Amino acid sequence: MVPRKVGTDWEVLAPAKLNLYLQVQSKRSDGFHDLETLMVPVRLFDHLRWSPSNSGNTAPAAEIGSEGLSFSVDARALNLHPEQVTSLESSENLVPRAARLLATRIGCPPRGHFQLTKRIPLQAGLGGGSSDAAATLRLANACWNGGLSEVELTDIAAQLGSDVPFFLQDGPAVCRGRGELVSTTSGLPKMHFVLVKPPLGLSTAAVFQEVAALPERESLEVDRLSKLLETLQIGAVGAACQWMTNRLEAIAAQMAPEVLRIKASLRAAGCWGQMMTGSGSTVFGIARSATHARWIARRLTAQRIGTVFVTSSGW
Ligand code: C5P
Repeated sequence: MVPRKVGTDWEVLAPAKLNLYLQVQSKRSDGFHDLETLMVPVRLFDHLRWSPSNSGNTAPAAEIGSEGLSFSVDARALNLHPEQVTSLESSENLVPRAARLLATRIGCPPRGHFQLTKRIPLQAGLGGGSSDAAATLRLANACWNGGLSEVELTDIAAQLGSDVPFFLQDGPAVCRGRGELVSTTSGLPKMHFVLVKPPLGLSTAAVFQEVAALPERESLEVDRLSKLLETLQIGAVGAACQWMTNRLEAIAAQMAPEVLRIKASLRAAGCWGQMMTGSGSTVFGIARSATHARWIARRLTAQRIGTVFVTSSGW
């Protein structure tokens, strides 16, 4: 998303993502796993605003360094525990970390106030923190006149997290390496989703830690990713769902059995396909239309198995 100037402030939206395909290959010597994934940004957004000074902000702001940089979070939409809010507001949040890294790279002291409004659930596999980091890089590069190119921003993004480079480009992409090698994909149709985030969130590191316990993959497995992309590119969303897969789902379902219950509910509601995104714990269903998505959402909300969102692919 492109940052927008509003008076003396700047603002930008940070979208969530869904993984329509996620295959984990081998564990690397740096502790990360090589993977191949198809990610799609969706229309569920955090909002980030930068002001030249903190005057006028009502929320308490954490001073995050001697530099005159401050940061506050409004997470009222998420119903978090107080300790989760404290952790979000810490100087280790990816927003101040990204701002400090960018400032160092462009050689100017970081300054002003970042206000983050959270709508994307935490520990959900939706990439909220990574998207906030990418939004910060774009925003700070704009408001501090950094003049860094997308390639230079991508270099900083990869230091912040495996998914951050994906959010620096606007659209679906196949990501490889530990996630930071991004190939933009074109020609995917609009898709309508229902997301269900169970109360229990999952830590990405904890889920990846269990990968070694998974059974070996079939060596003659068909190239599901190519099939998925080809089928989506001809607009056959329903048929494409048979090629979706997420290697981390079985692990996550051991830690959060709600994942399987939500999948069953989405299937029973007539979704074309349903799967967990990323390292979980959110499960998404692919609906036939926006109307169908709203109908499924009402049904799932009544079942009280998690927080329900209706959204669509957006770029
Ligand atoms: O890169 P990011 O900070 O999002 O990763 C969080 C954790 O997830 C890592 O510390 C690592 O344990 C695990 N991970 C992994 N392989 C990846 C991405 C993440 O093992 N490709």
